[in-house]
Amino acid sequence: MKKQGNTLIVGLTWGDEAKGKIVDLLAPRHDIVVRYNGGNNAGHTVAFGGETYKLHLVPSGLFHESVTCVIGGGVVVDPKVLLEEIARHEGKAPRLRERLLVSSRAHTIWPWHSKAEALSEKHQGKGKIGTTLRGIGPAYADKANRIHAIRAGEFLRPDHLRRKVERIVETKNQTFTRVFGEPGLDARAVWEEYAAYGEAVRPLIADTTAYLLRAAAEGRRILFEGAQGTLLDIDHGTYPYVTSSSASAAGAWPGSGVPARAIHEILGVVKAYTTRVGEGPFPTELKGALGDQIREQGHEYGTTTGRPRRCGWLDTFAIRYSARLNGVDGIVITLLDVLGSLPELKICTGYGVDGRPLTDFPDDPAVLEQARPVLESLEPWSEDISGARQFKALPRAARAYVKRVEEAIGVPVRIISVGPDREQTIFRP
Ligand code: IMP
Repeated sequence: MKKQGNTLIVGLTWGDEAKGKIVDLLAPRHDIVVRYNGGNNAGHTVAFGGETYKLHLVPSGLFHESVTCVIGGGVVVDPKVLLEEIARHEGKAPRLRERLLVSSRAHTIWPWHSKAEALSEKHQGKGKIGTTLRGIGPAYADKANRIHAIRAGEFLRPDHLRRKVERIVETKNQTFTRVFGEPGLDARAVWEEYAAYGEAVRPLIADTTAYLLRAAAEGRRILFEGAQGTLLDIDHGTYPYVTSSSASAAGAWPGSGVPARAIHEILGVVKAYTTRVGEGPFPTELKGALGDQIREQGHEYGTTTGRPRRCGWLDTFAIRYSARLNGVDGIVITLLDVLGSLPELKICTGYGVDGRPLTDFPDDPAVLEQARPVLESLEPWSEDISGARQFKALPRAARAYVKRVEEAIGVPVRIISVGPDREQTIFRP
């Protein structure tokens, strides 16, 4: 496969844009795939040879033997989940342990993180974020707070780590018992379990920043894999209903250590419609039968939590904002085949609040909550397009849809996915 420069794949909405398929597809054109944000809140799906593989932490390039997979310093790693994932997939991913690196700078997720999150979400009741309950937020909070954080590199010093775990559990238990009236954790049991994980993970730990900088200087091609999506970005997303990491392209620099100027091409991924999981405003949401139809047709249930995803029309107003924010060079549209089953077709091209059009995507969640989508009807199609491999093989209405979308976003559509398999892809010149 023809090699290309350093590429970044980023979701332009609220995650679940089928980025895993695109990363797997483009991985053989690169030497390295690096995940730069999030943790096992992500669910990346890769399908080939009639099988489907679900990934949460290992970069989606794992099935290509020529590719080195790097979990960057911006990721939060649950060592238990990582080891399970390696064990589950190494049969199909030759020599995976030899070509998987975990950044010594990556922060780690421990049982006190998921416990704290479960208690907090329960305590919030209606005001909850609707997180994946994987301990992601508390792990990033500890990273920012520094005192109780544990980086993967600390697994290389088990004696130090054992003492640190004892100290941390002691402090965290104060909150569990005194604030929430819940039983605390048993530090010794936690350590025994995690010391074993640490031993198994140790051979994978490396200074991946040094590794990636050297690789970039030598001209090896790097594919940057973003998790979640721009509208879930901690700084630029629909705060507070976001994740706790930099889920836009902006996270690639801190999350990998490779300067942004080394990235040659940024591809923004969107589905042909829009979905969201968890709480938070979603202006194009379809609450009735049409939304249900999209959910069933597109199998819109969370890869990580199994939760039904909220479904709605493609929101090109929000995507235009994300595309600009990330500086994307091209758009990837996935799941275009799903639209073929719908009796009508609309896209959102703007928002109105109190009858007045907005010029910019709202920075205030209260405004986003009030925003009404400006919808444009497009001609639907009913043909099965899952076998199309060229743009011209698509029905006229499907081609018109793609063209209208790229016009509304202001960025050309470069790749179209018409099914989950690697083969079900259309590249546009
Ligand atoms: P957290 O990342 O578990 O803290 O969850 C925060 C918000 O991000 C919730 O609305 C989650 O549903 C959402 N979220 C986190 N990861 C993903 C993902 O990979 N896809 C879609 N939504 C996600």
